[in-house]
Amino acid sequence: MNSINHVAIIMDGNGRWGLKNYNSRNKGHKAGLKTVESIIKVSIKYKIKFLTLYAFSTENWKRPKSEINYLFKLLENFLELKIKKFHKNNIKLKILGEKMFSKKLNNLLINSEKLTKKNSKLQINLALNYGSRKEIVNATKKLNSRKLEINEKNISKNLYTSNIPDPDILIRTGKTNRLSNFLLWQISYTEIFFSNKLWPDFNEKDFIKIIKNFQKIKRNFGEI
Ligand code: FPP
Repeated sequence: MNSINHVAIIMDGNGRWGLKNYNSRNKGHKAGLKTVESIIKVSIKYKIKFLTLYAFSTENWKRPKSEINYLFKLLENFLELKIKKFHKNNIKLKILGEKMFSKKLNNLLINSEKLTKKNSKLQINLALNYGSRKEIVNATKKLNSRKLEINEKNISKNLYTSNIPDPDILIRTGKTNRLSNFLLWQISYTEIFFSNKLWPDFNEKDFIKIIKNFQKIKRNFGEI
């Protein structure tokens, strides 16, 4: 049976869910946060060590300002409310992406990372202002400026995900089968699962079903 170290998720469909149910995209984001909490619980139950959540891409800045502000406020409130509980539960938070938000949110993110940095039960990687191509370009620039050899090992070591194993599972909800500039380097051998459900409708049972299916897959990593 395959063990699961790392699950990455593209949490798609909040906007459509909110429009359909409340005529408000923001209501969908709020509901999406509830799914995040239940997925964290299942991750702990299944002893998953890393959970990477795509919360805001470098392309998401093109959205209306009101939606962007709502998303960041939601994150701010969430962290203010939950970070101590995360810490108590031995959960580590890491941000993947460049912290270019309000001073308040930047500080909150930095302090949350600092507070939880030694925790070891589950590491939640929150991809925020994250873009995979940018991440790869930045890594090669760093190698170039330090006159280091450009090879796979050195690139991996200079991504936001250095020291994090590649994902075993990538899930995308929301009935859309694309990767949207997410972890393009890291998912070379990852098993990908698409769910037709919108993120707020995705539940513990759906997640566990994917985990069980993954455990049965024969992973070859290029061998036979
Ligand atoms: C994609 O759905 C979702 C996002 C861009 C934001 C994800 C945010 C959350 C799940 C809630 C906040 C999470 C944290 C951790 C604070 P979409 O808006 O693109 O949906 P659509 O495809 O239906 O428009």
